[in-house]
Amino acid sequence: MSAPRPAILIARAVFPEIVEQLREHFEVEHNPDDVIYSKAELTQRLQGKAGAFTTGGDRVDGEVLAANPQLRIVANMAVGYNNFDIAAFNAAGVWATNTPDVLTESTADFGFALMMAAARRMAESEHFLRRGEWKKWAYDMFAGGDVHGSTLGILGMGRIGQAIAKRGHHGFGMKVVYHNRSRLPAETEAAVGATWVDKATLLAQADHLVLVLPYTPENHHCIAAAEIAQMKPTATLTNIARGGIVDDAALAEALRAGRIAAAGLDVFEGEPALNPALLTVPNVVLTPHIASATVATRRAMAQLAADNLIAVLGRGAAPLTPIN
Ligand code: DGY
Repeated sequence: MSAPRPAILIARAVFPEIVEQLREHFEVEHNPDDVIYSKAELTQRLQGKAGAFTTGGDRVDGEVLAANPQLRIVANMAVGYNNFDIAAFNAAGVWATNTPDVLTESTADFGFALMMAAARRMAESEHFLRRGEWKKWAYDMFAGGDVHGSTLGILGMGRIGQAIAKRGHHGFGMKVVYHNRSRLPAETEAAVGATWVDKATLLAQADHLVLVLPYTPENHHCIAAAEIAQMKPTATLTNIARGGIVDDAALAEALRAGRIAAAGLDVFEGEPALNPALLTVPNVVLTPHIASATVATRRAMAQLAADNLIAVLGRGAAPLTPIN
C-alpha cells in the first residue's frame, strides 16, 4: 500500500495550472474565494497539512506553527518574508521559503518606472487631463525634475537595488549612491556603477531616492519626518520595499508642504488601506503593490513556490530557495 499523499493548503488564489500541478503531488485544500484568512482561520486550515503555499498577506508566527506541529514547509510566493517569524520557524524546525531572483528584473523595471513617473509628474498630469483641465500648452506646465544625469540614491542594495542601480548608471547616465548595512565588494560596485555612502549622505545627495530594503522591526519608519527633512526640496522618494519602512503620515505632510517634490509608492503601512492624507496630495503616484506583477514573473514566482513544496514534501529534499 502506498503512503498517503501529503496534504497542503494553498492559502490564496493562484494560477490554476499551478494548483493542478500541486494536485498531482498532494492532497490540496485551496482557498476558493481568495479571502485573506484571519490568523485563527489560517491556523485551523493548516491542521493536518504538511505544507502551505502563502503570499505576503498570510502571517505565520510561533502560535500558528505551535498549533500545527505537523507542518514541514511554508512556501511564500514573494521575495519579502516579513509575514513570517523566522525565529519561530527555526525553533519549530519548519522550512520557510521565498521567491528570490525570478522577480528581480521586473521589480527593478517597475521601481525605475515609478521613480520616473514621480519625477516627471505623470500621474498628476494624467489626472489633470482626465479632468478636462488641459486648455493650452504652457512653458512650465507639469515641469518636473530630470532623471538622466541626476543622482540616484538607493537604500538597500540586494538584488533589486543592484538591478535598479544598473538601469540608472548604464541606461540613464546617473550618479548612483547607495546605503546598505554591508558594503558590496568593489567589483560588484563597479559592475552596477554604485558608490556606498552613509545614510545622511544618501539623503542629502539623492535627487531620486528609491527604497528597496527588507522590512524588519529595526527599520520601521526609517524614513520619517527627520529623514525627509534631510532630502533636497527637489527630490523624489520611491518606495517599492514595504509599507512601514516609510512613515506615510509624515511623507504625506512633507509632500503637501513641498518639502520634497514628489513620491512614488507601491507599498503602504497597513495596506490595502492607505493613509487618507496620501489621497489628498497630488504629487504622489500610488500603485497597489504590483512591482513584481508581470504575467511571466508572477508565474515564475508561483512555480518557484510550488517547486519548493514539491522538493521538500515530494522528494524529501531541501527546498530550492530556503530562507532559514
Ligand atoms: C515580494 O515578492 O516581496 C513582493 O512584494 C510581492 O509581494
